[in-house]
Amino acid sequence: MLIVMSGLPGAGKSAVAEELGRRIPAPVLSVDPVEAAMWRAGIDRGQPTGLAAYVVVEALAGEILALGQRVIVDAVNDAEEAREQWRTLARRSGSALRLIEVMCSDPDVHRRRLAGRRRGLDCFPEPTWASVQARRAAFTNWRADRLVLDSIASPADNARTALAHLEHSGHSGH
Ligand SMILES: Nc1ncnc2c1ncn2[C@@H]1O[C@H](COP(=O)(O)OP(=O)(O)OP(=O)(O)O)[C@@H](O)[C@H]1O
Ligand SMILES: [Mg+2]
Repeated sequence: MLIVMSGLPGAGKSAVAEELGRRIPAPVLSVDPVEAAMWRAGIDRGQPTGLAAYVVVEALAGEILALGQRVIVDAVNDAEEAREQWRTLARRSGSALRLIEVMCSDPDVHRRRLAGRRRGLDCFPEPTWASVQARRAAFTNWRADRLVLDSIASPADNARTALAHLEHSGHSGH
């Protein structure tokens, strides 16, 4: 089973993904640290490292799925190309695909969390609230079948909801 997180920066994806990863248990492959690693290794920021990080995570996720294990991919996934990439990977590897969107229903809380979090990714620019707002439509217009979690609830509660959803949705995944 390929589990794909999505949601705006600061919405709370990584918090839920990590809690879910501990409980399943399953590895969490997060795209941002992969891009930060490329920069650390000296790859120029003018190169398409954002796209490359998605492609690297796809390759690693494919290896884990080939072992018959579950994997969680943690990325914003607001671009249709990114979403298509996970659909293709699931199809190619014969895995069930489960989409989980994390949103924060209180904009003030979301904004405070975005400003306050520290990820320990050296040199990784933190997105501004304005840039987050500009990406919101990619989620309100998204029609795919998915579990939507509100990060006003705790990551532990949301991971429990996600686990119940993964156990009861669909048929083929394991
Ligand atoms: N349910 C929650 N309750 C309290 N704090 C939370 C909750 N979810 C996330 N946070 C905090 O809010 C901040 C943003 O959360 P997180 O890093 O999980 O967002 P994200 O969606 O992964 O963002 P990005 O796309 O930029 O990686 C973090 O400091 C995190 O600890
Ligand atoms: Mg994150």
